[in-house]
Amino acid sequence: MCGIVGYLGDRIAREALIDGLRRLEYRGYDSAGAAFHDGDRFSVARETGRVENLAGALRESDPQSTLGIAHTRWATHGAVTVANTHPHLSHDGKIALVHNGVIENFADLKRFLMRKGVEFSSETDSEVLCNLIAHHYAKLEGEENRLLEALRKALARCRGAYGIAVLCADQPGLMLGARRGSPLLVGLGEGETFLASDASAFVGRVRDAVYLNDGEIAVLQEDGFRILTMEGEDAQAVTQTIDQTVEDVELGDFESYMEKEIYEQPTALENSILGRFGEDGTTAKLGGLEGHEDTLRQLDRIVFVACGTARHACMVGEYLIERLARVPVEVEHASEFRYRNSPKAGHTMVIAASQSGETLDTLEAVREARIKGLLTIGITNGVGSSLARETDGGVYQRVGPEIGVASTKAFTSQVALCGMLGLALGRMRGLSPMQGREIAEALQALPAQVSSILQHGEALRELAQKYSEAEHLLFLGRQELYPVALEGALKLKEISYAHAEGYPAAELKHGPIALINPECPCIFVVEDGELAGKTIANMQEVKARKGPVLAIAPEAVAIPDEAADDIFRIPSSHDITRPILATIPLQLFAYHFARIRGLDVDKPRNLAKSVTVE
Ligand code: M6R
Repeated sequence: MCGIVGYLGDRIAREALIDGLRRLEYRGYDSAGAAFHDGDRFSVARETGRVENLAGALRESDPQSTLGIAHTRWATHGAVTVANTHPHLSHDGKIALVHNGVIENFADLKRFLMRKGVEFSSETDSEVLCNLIAHHYAKLEGEENRLLEALRKALARCRGAYGIAVLCADQPGLMLGARRGSPLLVGLGEGETFLASDASAFVGRVRDAVYLNDGEIAVLQEDGFRILTMEGEDAQAVTQTIDQTVEDVELGDFESYMEKEIYEQPTALENSILGRFGEDGTTAKLGGLEGHEDTLRQLDRIVFVACGTARHACMVGEYLIERLARVPVEVEHASEFRYRNSPKAGHTMVIAASQSGETLDTLEAVREARIKGLLTIGITNGVGSSLARETDGGVYQRVGPEIGVASTKAFTSQVALCGMLGLALGRMRGLSPMQGREIAEALQALPAQVSSILQHGEALRELAQKYSEAEHLLFLGRQELYPVALEGALKLKEISYAHAEGYPAAELKHGPIALINPECPCIFVVEDGELAGKTIANMQEVKARKGPVLAIAPEAVAIPDEAADDIFRIPSSHDITRPILATIPLQLFAYHFARIRGLDVDKPRNLAKSVTVE
């Protein structure tokens, strides 16, 4: 949600900042801006719309500064206007600031500053923080470390979340950063240093980075950097090598990141499960759970907390884990869990799933679980993310950066990891070695099976074309395919803006069937075995009411001609892996549906990749 990049080095900052913003644009794409230190003042460019608008403006103004900060915005406080676009300058022109997050007590602080005569030009909380720093800076005239002290005093008065980068007109070789609840890291290059909210901003330019912990300040100077606590004490700076490559964050031959990431799924799944099976091939070994074996054996209950697509993955996990390990599982919206006083029952483990590892609602749910003394485990793709740091243990997804706002490869990887977890817990309980081996083999077969589905992308494009006029669609499935139906509907609505809902197939008769008419296609994801017949009966109920039916069904399931208008076949598989196989066609269907409508699938309206506000 919003992206920050700052540059201090021996090259002209413009190019590095624009490249960084292009890579961060998936975090926010309402407006973008940059501020450059220019003698004893700032030159600022701000444009609404995409980063390319800003790039065009900067090509014309051609700033030559080697120190600058930039931002791409997803609006929280205030509409999408130039005035609300970052960077913000303080009223006296001394401070320039970019900010991710929300300052909750900004209204009080703004009143305080207005009483001091400060005039504001935007509706943002960020401009308030910028002026608060300037206010303290003015009061500290003549003091040592004046900007740092002003920053510390200002932040001490703020409630809420922030990741910020700050420049001062009086200090041409200094940039400060600070984080609380919103990620920030320092990228260490040869003769140049970056500050960014996400490593993708400087991939290809630097290899090493230092992730700030919550409550830390970064001081970047021409001769190096320091990490401090909010109290101004030196903090430990742990340098990590960035494992992303330029190929990971560039489009290559694909038209969009969403398409690229859909097609990356065989490799992503392979990496997610690689080296995570026991030597005898009958169980899963998840390194991040080591040391917690006793708790895992005694578990009475698992509570998943997550948002959006990650929550759908957890819902599949609920079916898989209950089936394999016979442990009761609940899935909560993270945003609900954190405010609920859910009863403490026996040995409960809380699993938080989040692609980014930075979703605020999910993090707050984890914090709440920790206050209640529960074991917390994270499933995340965000190496070094807040989720990874704040949980007792965890599992990295290892799928590479997911840049498309619509989550695809992160979902299938999370489902696979829930299957692995179910397998590990199952083998600690009643699951036999033979059953364990069967499941391990099914999981290992996934990459090839997913590849075989991806070869039929053109068939899915034709199906999307056929149904692309529809404004209302229903997605239906049973058991572990019910959350897959929910995910199919979410994917479609978030990138195509068509109205889509997911239901358990049998729920159709309890209400949604009233919507069925020739303009409302129903997309059924069909199980194998006993339940397939029941779902086919539901399809026939739709056909009897002249509703169009598209079935996503395993090869082995016979579907009568009269039950479906179209059938897309997926390989027959173990029940445990079918949710992943059934998801792939739904992702491609949504992707083509939106593209046929001429929409930008990577930057759907109103959405941000990582939601770091409540
Ligand atoms: O980074 P997270 O997995 O925590 O993100 C959770 C949701 O915001 C995310 O899955 C969202 O629903 C996506 N836009 C879905 O495609």
